[in-house]
Parts: sequence; C-alpha cells; structure tokens
Amino acid sequence: MKKPIIIGNWKANKTLSEAKDWIATYKQTIGSVTKSTIILCPGFIHLQLLQEAKLGIDLGVQDVSRFSSGAYTGEISVGMLEGLARYALIGHSERRKNLQETDEVTFHKVKQARSAGLIPIVCVSELSQAENLLRGAPEFSETGIWLYEPLMAISTGPMGEPEDAGVAGKFARSLQQITSSVPVIYGGSVTPENVTNYLSLPEFSGVCAGGASLDPHKFASLILAAEKL
Ligand code: PGA
Repeated sequence: MKKPIIIGNWKANKTLSEAKDWIATYKQTIGSVTKSTIILCPGFIHLQLLQEAKLGIDLGVQDVSRFSSGAYTGEISVGMLEGLARYALIGHSERRKNLQETDEVTFHKVKQARSAGLIPIVCVSELSQAENLLRGAPEFSETGIWLYEPLMAISTGPMGEPEDAGVAGKFARSLQQITSSVPVIYGGSVTPENVTNYLSLPEFSGVCAGGASLDPHKFASLILAAEKL
C-alpha cells in the first residue's frame, strides 16, 4: 500500500494571524491521518508557530541560502534553521523564473541543505536540470525527494486530468532512470479532486500542492482523498 508524501507550499502568503486561523481550522478538520507523510512548507516567519501547534506534520522551508552562516544580509542560512525544519524545497520553478536561480545556485543550495541534515526536495521541470545537478554531485541522486513540476501546470489550474497525469508519469519514469530509488512526486495545480489521478500512478510517491494548501479545508480534503486510495 502506498504511503503518500503530501507537501503543502504556502509560497509568499499568510500573515501570522492568518496562519493561526489556518492552524485552528486544520486541527478541527483533519481527524486522524494514518498513512501519509505530510510536509508543510510555510514562510520562515510561520515555522515556530506551526511547530508549537503540534499538528503531526513535518515542516519544510521553501528555500535556503546558498551560503553558510555569515555576512549575507537578508539570507536564511541552513544553520539558522536548526530545530525548526526537516525538509527544504530547493530550485522551485518560481525561484528559477522570478529570481533567475540557475542550476549552479540550486546545486549549492542542495549541498548546504545536505550539510545541515535537511532533506532536500529538489524541484525540476526539465530533465536537463536534474542531469546538471547530478553531473556535479552524483550522490544527490540518493537522498531526498525529487519534485517534478511542469511549468505549464504551476499555479495555472485546471490541470490534473488523467491524461495530464499520464504525461507527467512518463517524465517521472525518465527522471527515475537517473535518480535511482528516491521518491518522485508531482506538483502543479493539484487539488482534492485530481490528487488521486497522480497518486494512482506507480511513478509518483506523492504530490505538492501550492494553491490548495492555503485553504485548510482544501488541504485536509486533499490529504483525506489520498488516505482513501
Ligand atoms: P500550485 O503550486 O499547486 O499552486 O500549482 C505547485 C507547487 O508549488 O509545486
């Protein structure tokens, strides 16, 4: 039986008080989750709040600095995250697109994350991105989670029809050929309605939801739909 990995990515959303409301509603809605691994990636400012809320979910960050601690104003180094997060999204397509993050920057961030014991969730939209990373460090293929996010599906909704999932599954198979046995998950307009189209494919070990994770009801229904599979 599949033990799905469900990631929520809040992106640049939520004040502290909105995060508190999310926590209260999520607690009331979720009930008992028995088989999924739930990872929420909120903003850095929300980490402590979510940790104290004891929701039974793992926490991740949406990015880390490519530098270690030191004189890098505005950066969040992996050392600063000690005790706050277990996972780190690295190389998200929105960072590649809006902040011109290259494969080289992504490489350094994966390296930083690994050095601090954070589990990298490496995001790729093209096979060449994975190949470039692994060329520099073949050992990256053995840790963490790889997140496939097709550019046309990120924050665009509506996607996720069985045929879209099938195309994504094909990409995942090619990715698996170069990443050995690490889990590959899917991200891009995942909703409670289409989540099982992805999870029912053998290629995907889980999903990442951005928009759908912002609403605690939607995020909980997405998890519960995955649990029923
Ligand atoms: P989305 O984001 O669900 O809003 O498309 C997906 C992601 O960030 O991986």
